[in-house]
Amino acid sequence: MAILTNAPRGTQDVLPGQSGRWQYVEQTALDTARLFGFSEIRVPTFEHTELFNRSVGDTTDVVQKEMYTFLDKGNRSITLRPEGTAGVMRAILQNSLLSGALPVKVSYLVNCFRYEKPQAGRLREFHQFGVEMAGAASPAADAQVIALAKAVFDALGIQGLALELNSIGCPTCRADYHRALKDYFASHVEELCPTCRERLEKNPMRILDCKNPECAQLAKGAPVVLDYICDDCREHFEGLKRQLDAMGIAYQVNPTIVRGLDYYTRTVFEFVTTGIGAQGTVCGGGRYDGLIQMLGGAPTPSVGFAMGLERLLLVMDQQGCPFPEQAPCTIYIGSLGEQAGLKAAQLCAGLRAEGFWAECDTMGRSAKAQMKYADKLGAKFSCILGENELNQGVAQVKRMDNGSTAQVALEPEAFVQHLYHNTFEEIAETAL
Ligand code: HAM
Repeated sequence: MAILTNAPRGTQDVLPGQSGRWQYVEQTALDTARLFGFSEIRVPTFEHTELFNRSVGDTTDVVQKEMYTFLDKGNRSITLRPEGTAGVMRAILQNSLLSGALPVKVSYLVNCFRYEKPQAGRLREFHQFGVEMAGAASPAADAQVIALAKAVFDALGIQGLALELNSIGCPTCRADYHRALKDYFASHVEELCPTCRERLEKNPMRILDCKNPECAQLAKGAPVVLDYICDDCREHFEGLKRQLDAMGIAYQVNPTIVRGLDYYTRTVFEFVTTGIGAQGTVCGGGRYDGLIQMLGGAPTPSVGFAMGLERLLLVMDQQGCPFPEQAPCTIYIGSLGEQAGLKAAQLCAGLRAEGFWAECDTMGRSAKAQMKYADKLGAKFSCILGENELNQGVAQVKRMDNGSTAQVALEPEAFVQHLYHNTFEEIAETAL
């Protein structure tokens, strides 16, 4: 049955040959965040549906069309997270992190779920690296978060992503903007999709990121929010630009960015590329000053971003960014017969304790087949233990690259010494 051997549409396996690349990207992102003072937080894959309805917003495409929501056996409505921010903020509140030193700075790696139409760079289960900074209102906070995103790209060798910036104002100035949008779309109501006709009353800004082609066409002529922001929001935006200028971070103001999630206030930004097809937004983020209060906490200005790891890897492939080489197997210790097999296992255990990748036979193969396998593994050294070797207490350890051999006593320490001493420089790279 195909259903047993095909993963659900929009999901992807990460195979052993690829997982090293993921680990490298994830570790680089976490390490870079650490340099900015962000520590990793881990939160559940699912939350109460209400959390996303309230924070992401019940007129967004994400909530209206894309969430994986179900009733659990206790009849609770549960949703697989469509993004990381809401769950992370819930955790920060639940665990009273805001009563410690401010700002609270967390990073995270999460899988997310959205029922979208799959295409290159758009999946139904995808992965994000994100950061959130809670408790800092100044534009310096926005700038640090943006600088961190850029530092991750730099550390991975990614070049040429364009940083696009906008301000979507605060609830006060947004009221004027909503009126202007309503006026504009009201005169085109017949052309709007049914969902957007409803949005016209409740949240006209959401029409701007509707994926329906007719709505998208109409949105192009709509008033832009940057023309409506209040003096405070404008000063915040100018302050952010000064910060970015001071750090030498290039940006373009793009007044059409509104982002697809409801919680944003003031700053919104995206890092985009044209190199990986239609889904070119590698990273998106912004400020969300009202979210924590909306979840029941004290007013806490906050800012963050998330980058899609699948898109990041697509860009890295497209740009030919280097990935670290996977270290090859150090030694294959073959054996013939049970006693020799026990000795090989013992030697391997000793070598692994010292950080060497050591392998022995688990297939009951012939000596020739074992050597063939050692070759396949790319083992740097190999030997075969049989009755003779056990009787004499030594093995001929062969260097696979030049065929030279040396006698080594059948003791873990002797093997460790041999591998260290013989080709220390080469082997040091393959040790942990
Ligand atoms: P978002 O723009 O919805 O923002 O998603 C962030 C990133 O996740 C996108 O730029 C993209 O790289 C990736 N992404 C989104 N949907 C998909 C998908 N279906 N397939 C593959 N990749 C995808 C957020 O999620 C916010 N929580 C970001 C944030 C954090 N804002 C403040 N703090």
